[in-house]
Amino acid sequence: MSPPGLCLLISFIPSVQTEVGDQLLPKVCLQKPMRATCKRSLGLILVGGFLLIALFYVWSPGSSSRVDIRPKQWSPVIKHLHGKIQNIASLYHDIPYHIKEDVACRLAQNTCVCVAEKETVHLPFSHLLWPRAWAHDISMAFLESHPDPEGVKSNRAQEYHSFQRRSFDPSDVLVIAEAQSPLQYPTQGVKVRPLKTIIIPGLGLKQEERSNYSVYLTATLGTFDIAASVDSVSVNGAAEKHMVLSSPLLSALNRQLQFVTYTNTVFHPRTADTIQFSTKGHQAFFTIKVGHGTVPALYNHGSQKEYNISALVTIATKTFLRYDKLKDLIDSIRQYYPTVTIVIADDNEHPQPVTGPHVEHYIMPFGKGWFAGRNLAVSQVTTKYVLWADDDFIFTENTKLEKMVEIMEKTTLDMVGGAVREATSYTATYRHTISVEEGGEEGDCIHIRQGYHHIIEGYPNCVVADAVINFFMGRTDKLQQVSFNPRLARQGHLEFFVDALGSLHIGSCSDIIVNHASKIKLPWTKTDKQKAYDKFRYTYSGSDKNLHNEIYYFKNRFKCMTSN
Ligand SMILES: *[C@@H]1O[C@H](CO)[C@@H](O)[C@H](O)[C@H]1NC(C)=O
Ligand SMILES: *[C@@H]1O[C@H](CO)[C@@H](O)[C@H](O)[C@H]1NC(C)=O
Repeated sequence: MSPPGLCLLISFIPSVQTEVGDQLLPKVCLQKPMRATCKRSLGLILVGGFLLIALFYVWSPGSSSRVDIRPKQWSPVIKHLHGKIQNIASLYHDIPYHIKEDVACRLAQNTCVCVAEKETVHLPFSHLLWPRAWAHDISMAFLESHPDPEGVKSNRAQEYHSFQRRSFDPSDVLVIAEAQSPLQYPTQGVKVRPLKTIIIPGLGLKQEERSNYSVYLTATLGTFDIAASVDSVSVNGAAEKHMVLSSPLLSALNRQLQFVTYTNTVFHPRTADTIQFSTKGHQAFFTIKVGHGTVPALYNHGSQKEYNISALVTIATKTFLRYDKLKDLIDSIRQYYPTVTIVIADDNEHPQPVTGPHVEHYIMPFGKGWFAGRNLAVSQVTTKYVLWADDDFIFTENTKLEKMVEIMEKTTLDMVGGAVREATSYTATYRHTISVEEGGEEGDCIHIRQGYHHIIEGYPNCVVADAVINFFMGRTDKLQQVSFNPRLARQGHLEFFVDALGSLHIGSCSDIIVNHASKIKLPWTKTDKQKAYDKFRYTYSGSDKNLHNEIYYFKNRFKCMTSN
């Protein structure tokens, strides 16, 4: 597209005027005036100089057309579509019906309530076998201690409103195909790259005989045209947002419809255009997705038959006050994986050197904390997968990273957790499911339950869950996308999985086991270092608790959490 302001300016410079081709306009316009102005009189130079400045001002690189990219939800077409759907929904109001309670109550009501589960079985120890869900009223806990509860409430509402506007996707708008439409069109799967052109597949008209057949096309973010013309079809509005095709011959019109193109003219890297396609008395809507294709991020890890763990996996850990434990971890890893890279994030006050082949030691400001360390460590990984291990884990012959790699290579999982063996023979997998229920103005409810969704076909020891233990392997790029909220300094685990809900597909395998250097130690046998660590890590101060409440209340917009 040639900027209109530019053409006007160019016509004032005589020597350039004739040389400007329509297509080459932007390039030519910028180079030619300079040469031209040099040869002219002073007056012309001055005028030319002024024009050049004006020209750069009007035509900054790219295009001079201005596009409003403030998030908005309602193009005229979508507004129209919305009205039609309301009309459809309001039909048959006079016909009576009977509600089926057991089904109707399963429908989302947008009114989740914060209640603990009732005890159903009264037996000794039944709470161990069927743990009851408790409920935590996040709104109350957080707002109670807040100096300005109304202010923070309205801030949250405002942020949420703009989040909804930003994340609105026109291709998610409800579209209903009305009964007996003579129009044929694609219902989904039409995609165009920004500012490119495609043929719209599948357009057609099946109509009873008449003297003149015509169809109308309307778009918001692009224009229509025809890639070929068919005899006895008239085309009005080619290269415009509204195009009319008509013909006395239905077959000719249908042939012409096979050549209809759509060109995206408003740049947006990820949106959709809602197309209105109609004929007399009938309207249909469909969306064309506008967006770049996903640019792949591939890892070249050689072509060995067996998984080369050193080329595929980096082990990441975070250490604080426990160099003895860290050394044991590194030694145990080296027994099984002598060349795998180990990335260590360290926020000790007095860091000690940790060296060795394939060890990367990153020193952070003192006490930056748990999730900040995870973030830093994961950000430095260059392999396809990253394994997270706590600094007090010990690798054994059961810590088979190959198994984790295999399941991620062969399934759609983005992350797989293992099991952690505590001092005795007890192993933990910490599998949980997470669901979010809509709760209206006050916020949503998050429900966390022990358990998993299903066993993974072909891997009897592995299941799919929404949260797993802090011994896991993940696709590096996916984990980096979710990232660990660095505000969570002391404690945090579930928060990552809440952020990952809907973007990571997570598994858990009970047969990939790492040992935990004994956690259960009697207080009087602890060293001073251990005591200091415990104090730092496990003291759950009031402000920490408030931070968790704030993150759930404000960042995630929850009002309630239930869990068992
Ligand atoms: C057919 O209909 C279109 C659109 O209404 C109109 O522009 C065109 O002139 C009509 N053609 C004939 C032959 O009546
Ligand atoms: C495995 O990968 C590492 C690191 O890329 C490489 O140095 C090593 O030669 C590979 N091993 C084999 C058996 O190919």
